[in-house]
Amino acid sequence: MKTLAIIAQKGGSGKTTLAVHMAVCTALHQRKAAVIDLDPQGNAYNWNESRENGRKLDAVRGNATELAALLHQAETAGIDLAIVDTAPHSNSDAAMTAQLADLNRSARHWYTHTDAQAQVLGCSRKQVYESHAL
Ligand SMILES: Nc1ncnc2c1ncn2[C@@H]1O[C@H](COP(=O)(O)OP(=O)(O)O)[C@@H](O)[C@H]1O
Ligand SMILES: [Mg+2]
Repeated sequence: MKTLAIIAQKGGSGKTTLAVHMAVCTALHQRKAAVIDLDPQGNAYNWNESRENGRKLDAVRGNATELAALLHQAETAGIDLAIVDTAPHSNSDAAMTAQLADLNRSARHWYTHTDAQAQVLGCSRKQVYESHAL
């Protein structure tokens, strides 16, 4: 299992959008994705809850101190890619999360490239929008 953490100190910079797009892309490629939502706002988790049955992905909520255990559970459950969505303005949580990740991405890098969110795993934007990711 690989772990991707999406971290940016600024709110509204596209972290959650990137996280859910990547989760859908992963599923479209017949791989198991888990979204681990560390933001108390819970937008990524709620997005998944709002999906119709049969389209739901694995998603859990938690805080940074629980992340190691949540990642362990995901790995045990056969998840291929754990995507960690984080809250802004949380230096210690961000540092803890980055330490547990294989790859860290600041949303800012993606945000300036509008296609990057969808292309990251080889999905076309069309595929992602048709899958009702948003
Ligand atoms: N690549 C993009 N192009 C245009 N709007 C975007 C893009 N990524 C995100 N947004 C929009 O920006 C807003 C904030 O995105 P969000 O993912 O919730 O940010 P964050 O999780 O960092 O707070 C949302 O309304 C979202 O639809
Ligand atoms: Mg967010």
